[in-house]
Amino acid sequence: MKTVSMPAPFSVLLPGLAQTTDADRVDAEWLDGLADSLSEHGWLSVDARPLLGDSLLAALCEEVRTLDRNDALRVARIGRGLDKTRDRSVRRDRIAWLQGETGAQRALFSYFETIQTGLNQRLFLGLKWFEAHYATYHSGDFYRKHVDSFQGRASRVVSVMLYLNKHWQEADGGALQVYNPDRELEICGRVVPELGRMAVFLSEEIPHEVLPAHRTRYSVACWFRQDEIPLPLPL
Ligand code: OGA
Ligand code: MN
Repeated sequence: MKTVSMPAPFSVLLPGLAQTTDADRVDAEWLDGLADSLSEHGWLSVDARPLLGDSLLAALCEEVRTLDRNDALRVARIGRGLDKTRDRSVRRDRIAWLQGETGAQRALFSYFETIQTGLNQRLFLGLKWFEAHYATYHSGDFYRKHVDSFQGRASRVVSVMLYLNKHWQEADGGALQVYNPDRELEICGRVVPELGRMAVFLSEEIPHEVLPAHRTRYSVACWFRQDEIPLPLPL
């Protein structure tokens, strides 16, 4: 997985899906497409709406909006462990970890499990577990260019962003901007955070940033990890 040939296409069209409402029935071809794009380009973006279905997406939208309304998300921090700091010049989103407390979260987790198993079978990544949080970026919020894992730590390996914004326009800002890891200033693509769109990339390799949003932007961020599952799970 170390050799990534860039630039990647802006967006990948994965094979058509049979009508699925159940994570167990995720098309093997869909997973093939995901694994191929990831190993060839290091990242991809795909419309996962046909996969997840409108009712699950609507339930997730409702949950994150309710959390936001109730001020139940907290300011995100950067760094790890005791080095965690709050730096508003780097990131300004607010987050809430998903604990699998609701039916919608459990349904989403079963898709994530299917993706984890599917990527392990195809790319031998040895992914052991995942962590996921909701994120909101209010108008003016951004996340400067970064990678999601410290090189060589094999902690976060694959990042999946799932966007929860109906009728998002280019003019609303908030795009995920993806960079070429070999030529740091080269932009490989921008993903508009429209409802059901998923961006998937290699956590250690792919530099990316969230451009300033001009309206509230909702998402789920999930990281598949190679390290041991910590006990107890972090809150
Ligand atoms: C992150 C991140 C990107 C996005 O949370 O680390 O880069 O599009 N998010 O939300
Ligand atoms: Mn990131």
